[in-house]
Amino acid sequence: MAAHPGRFASASNSLSRRHFLTAVAGSVLLGACADTAPNNRAEPETNTAGQGAAQFRQPEVLRSENGRLDVTLTAAPGTFQGAIGGALAYNGAPVGPTLLIRPGDRLGVTLRNDLDAPTNLHTHGLNVSPVGQGDDVFATIGAGEERSYVYDVPADHPSGTFWYHPHLHGSVAAQVAAGLFGAIIVEDEVDDRADMAAMTERLFVLNDPIGIGREASPMDGMHGRTGEAVRVNGVVQPVIASVAGGLERWRVVNASATRPLSVSVPGVVLHLIASDGGRLSSTRSLDGLVLVPGERAEVIVEIPSAVEELAIGSDGAGQPLAVLAPTVGQSTELPTTGGTLEVPDGLGESVSVGAELVVRERTLTLGVDMGMGSMMYGDSGLEFTIDGIAFDPQRTDITVEAGTVEEWRIVNATGMDHPFHLHAWPFSVVGDDAWPGWKDTVNVPGSGEVVIRIPFVGRTGRTVYHCHILDHEDLGMMGVVDVQPA
Ligand code: C2O
Ligand code: CU
Ligand code: CU
Repeated sequence: MAAHPGRFASASNSLSRRHFLTAVAGSVLLGACADTAPNNRAEPETNTAGQGAAQFRQPEVLRSENGRLDVTLTAAPGTFQGAIGGALAYNGAPVGPTLLIRPGDRLGVTLRNDLDAPTNLHTHGLNVSPVGQGDDVFATIGAGEERSYVYDVPADHPSGTFWYHPHLHGSVAAQVAAGLFGAIIVEDEVDDRADMAAMTERLFVLNDPIGIGREASPMDGMHGRTGEAVRVNGVVQPVIASVAGGLERWRVVNASATRPLSVSVPGVVLHLIASDGGRLSSTRSLDGLVLVPGERAEVIVEIPSAVEELAIGSDGAGQPLAVLAPTVGQSTELPTTGGTLEVPDGLGESVSVGAELVVRERTLTLGVDMGMGSMMYGDSGLEFTIDGIAFDPQRTDITVEAGTVEEWRIVNATGMDHPFHLHAWPFSVVGDDAWPGWKDTVNVPGSGEVVIRIPFVGRTGRTVYHCHILDHEDLGMMGVVDVQPA
C-alpha cells in the first residue's frame, strides 16, 4: 500500500490535522451505473485473494423488538484462536454480539462472570444513567456472580456506533485486550431511509489481542500494552469482497487498548457521516482518518470500479488492517444524479455549544509520576495522574450542577498522547482540534491541549472521565465527576 504521509498529515481545510489525514477538496464521484450487493449484515462472500486469506466477517447481531432487547453476556475464557496466553470472550466469540437498538428502547443485559476474576460492564458512549442498574462502573461482579443492567435509552438518543467493555479499575487493559468487547448500534428513521438502507453496511471492530496470561511489564504500563496483530472482528487482515463501483457504509470502532489506528484506502474517498456521538450535519470528504482507542467513526466509501486489491488502513506499524478486493456483482438501486452515485449529506443536526452558554471553566492536567522503576507492573510506583493525583473511587474530583454547560481545558503535561474520555455526557470539541459532531473520546496530543464544552443535561449521577489508553487508566489517569440535581 502507499505509505501514509504520517499520522497527522496536514489537512487542506479547516478540519483538524490531528485527526484527519487529508481532507479532499470536493467530492469525487464515480461515474455510470451503480452496482452493489443488497444491504446485508452477514452476507457470505467470495474470497478473491490467495489461498489462506480469511474473509471479512461480522459479529452476531441481536436486534431489539418492540422496544426491548434482553441479552445475556457471559464473560469466560475464549476458545477461539487468538491471544497468546489465553483469550477472554463474551459468549464465546472473538467479538461480543452487536446489540442493535433504537432510541427509546430498554436494553437489559445480564452479565454472567465465568472468569476467575472480578469484572463489570460499561456501555461506552451511550447516553444513559451512570447509576443504579444503569451504567455503573463502580460496580464489581465477582467470579461466578452475575448482575442485571437495565439501560433506558432516551427517546432522543442519537443514532450511532457505540460499544461495551469491562471497566473494573486495575484490570480494564487486561480484560479488554484479551477480547472482552462488542458493539452497540443505535438506529433511527434516517437509517431506514432507502438511500441509507441501499448501501452495504459493514462493522469493523478493531483490536490487537493480548492473552490474559501474559504478564504486563512496566513498559506496558508506560506506553500501553500492544498485541502482535490488529484484528478486524477477530480476523487478521480479512479480505472484503465488495461490489465494484458501489457505495458502502462502514462503522469503525477502535477497541484496541493502546494503538491509534488509521482508516484509509489509497485513492479512495471516505465520506465521514458520523463521529463518536452520532451523525454530522454535513458530510466531510476525507482521504482518511485516525481513530484513537475508544473512538468511532462512520464513513461512506466509494468502492473503486476496477477489480484490484487495495490495502485498508494501517495498524501504526506498517501493516494494513484489511484488504479491499472489489468484485463484479449484481446491480441494485443506489440513488444517482446524472449518473453519479449520491453520497447522503445533511444527515445530522449541527453541534454548536456557544461560549456564552459556559457557566464554569476548569483545567485538567494530565501527568505521569515515574515511581522508583521497579520491575513490577503494579508495584513500580508508576502512576498516571490528573491534576497530580491518581484515581480514587471514594473521592469526587469534580462536582457539577445538572443542566449547566462547562468548558474543560485538558492540558497534557506529558510527552505522549492521551485519549480523553468522559462517560454519560457527550461533548463538543472546540478550537484548533475541533471535530464535527458530538464526541466522547478525543486525543490530547503529547504536550498539547484540547478544549471541550460539555452540556451536563439529560441525566445526573456519579461517574468517571479518563485516558482511554487502558493501562494509563488502570494506573490512575481517571477522575470522578458527580453531576448533582440543581
Ligand atoms: Cu470505553 Cu470509561 O470507557
Ligand atoms: Cu466510556
Ligand atoms: Cu494516557
